[in-house]
Amino acid sequence: MDITFLLNGETVELEGVSPTATLLDWLREERHLRGTKEGCNEGDCGACTVMVSDADGARALNSCILFLPQLHGKAIRTVEGVGEADGSLHPVQDAMIEHHGSQCGFCTPGFIMSMTAAHANGATDHDTQLAGNLCRCTGYAPIIRAAEACEDKPVPTWVNNDCAFVLPKATEVAEDGPAHAPTSSDELAAVYAANPDATIIAGATDVGLWVTKQLRDLNSVIFLNRCDDLKDVEVTETNVRFGAMVDMNTVGDTLSDLHPSYAEMVRRYASVQVRHAATIGGNIANGSPIGDNPPALIALGATLHLRKGDTRRDMPLEDFFIDYGKQDRQPGEFVEAVSFPRQPDTLKCYKLSKRFDQDISAVCGCFNITVADGIVTNARIAFGGMAGIPKRATAVEAALIGQPWTVATITAAKAKFDADFTPLTDMRASAEYRLETARALLERYFAESQGQTTNVLEVSA
Ligand SMILES: Cc1cc2nc3c(=O)[nH]c(=O)nc-3n(C[C@H](O)[C@H](O)[C@H](O)COP(=O)(O)OP(=O)(O)OC[C@H]3O[C@@H](n4cnc5c(N)ncnc54)[C@H](O)[C@@H]3O)c2cc1C
Ligand code: FES
Ligand code: FES
Repeated sequence: MDITFLLNGETVELEGVSPTATLLDWLREERHLRGTKEGCNEGDCGACTVMVSDADGARALNSCILFLPQLHGKAIRTVEGVGEADGSLHPVQDAMIEHHGSQCGFCTPGFIMSMTAAHANGATDHDTQLAGNLCRCTGYAPIIRAAEACEDKPVPTWVNNDCAFVLPKATEVAEDGPAHAPTSSDELAAVYAANPDATIIAGATDVGLWVTKQLRDLNSVIFLNRCDDLKDVEVTETNVRFGAMVDMNTVGDTLSDLHPSYAEMVRRYASVQVRHAATIGGNIANGSPIGDNPPALIALGATLHLRKGDTRRDMPLEDFFIDYGKQDRQPGEFVEAVSFPRQPDTLKCYKLSKRFDQDISAVCGCFNITVADGIVTNARIAFGGMAGIPKRATAVEAALIGQPWTVATITAAKAKFDADFTPLTDMRASAEYRLETARALLERYFAESQGQTTNVLEVSA
């Protein structure tokens, strides 16, 4: 494919790039920009963080799982390009030196890039901004102190220049036989119907690992990153609708007022870098039993919108997941959007994982229970990590609906989890742990509805 982008302020035109060449490999091997480090090569450590800007702003991304065609028309900054032309350092670099934020230094370029992007955006929730950057030697306190120290320092002028970068009109991405980059969902529908064996690439936070870890050759690919109409978010009086290409940070921001518990779960979904790339459509389409969106969306009564050519069909999201690794999606059919009705917020999402930040769920339980005049009038409960697919707890729901909202009802309903789920034991959790915590989460939901505090993050003697 032929692509064009801005790298550290200079226009780069590339011809005939392999569609699945990663930005990290290209930077290090072709451009010899080796400040950007390779740690895990799977999105977990942040050593490879770069800043990518366009008209929507600047964001930190992991270059190890970014394919070059995803960068067409964007502006990229690496650690070599954050200082000023006169040789002076970026404020975050000065602050890292002053606050002793670096020891062996392997992680440091990645931290600098995450901090540079956060600084450009005026973000001061440093723990969240840096949750995707791992450091084995310095400890985080000096790094956080450095981030705090430069909060009010001016943003360099190159940041605006990067965001303002637009390709000359004539510069179009050139496709080749097996690699396509449609610019709208209509184009996508046509190209996918004609190439149903192609692999769709949305944010590449799953597909990237097929290449970097499984060394898979993807033959034919379709990039969705230029289908802007799939990035639409609609919030009306009756409905919330996310296009398939809406990224997870946008999902979290959109839901922060409507369903704060969902938004809080999104804060713990991977890292800032991964959430900038990962899409809600990819998280549904991959069919993972431990994806975090499906249980929350099922609890909200979501509808999945699929499209093949000019034919569209809708289904309740839970019906999409047939069995482990098997979804109700035909060759050439893609996820166009997901939507759910506006409703009073009674949703609670409980993500249990071994680590608070940036970890995949062992169990993710989402509860949406309506009580009127002391009686349960509606209950939608869905879990990830409890079966081979994201799954509703229909027996538990049935034990709740029509019953008084009391401890006795909760106790009776807890006994029904065995009818709904036969979980597995794996590296994340045992079957017993999963069942026991699922029961406990229902109790937690009830306790919270009674005004009790259940936050177990801060334990004091
Ligand atoms: C470090 C790391 C941490 C992670 N943490 C979490 C986590 O906490 N919670 C969680 O749920 N997930 C997590 N993930 C998994 C991943 O980020 C999500 O599943 C993500 O939402 C996938 O979206 P994507 O856009 O990157 O999909 P891609 O990787 O581009 O695609 C995923 C799959 O879906 C298909 N696909 C994508 N879009 C469409 C579409 N519109 N129509 C049809 N098929 C499509 C692709 O062909 C592919 O099979 C993590 C991943 C990494 C690397
Ligand atoms: S090398 Fe670890 S996130 Fe990219
Ligand atoms: S300074 Fe060594 S890993 Fe962070």
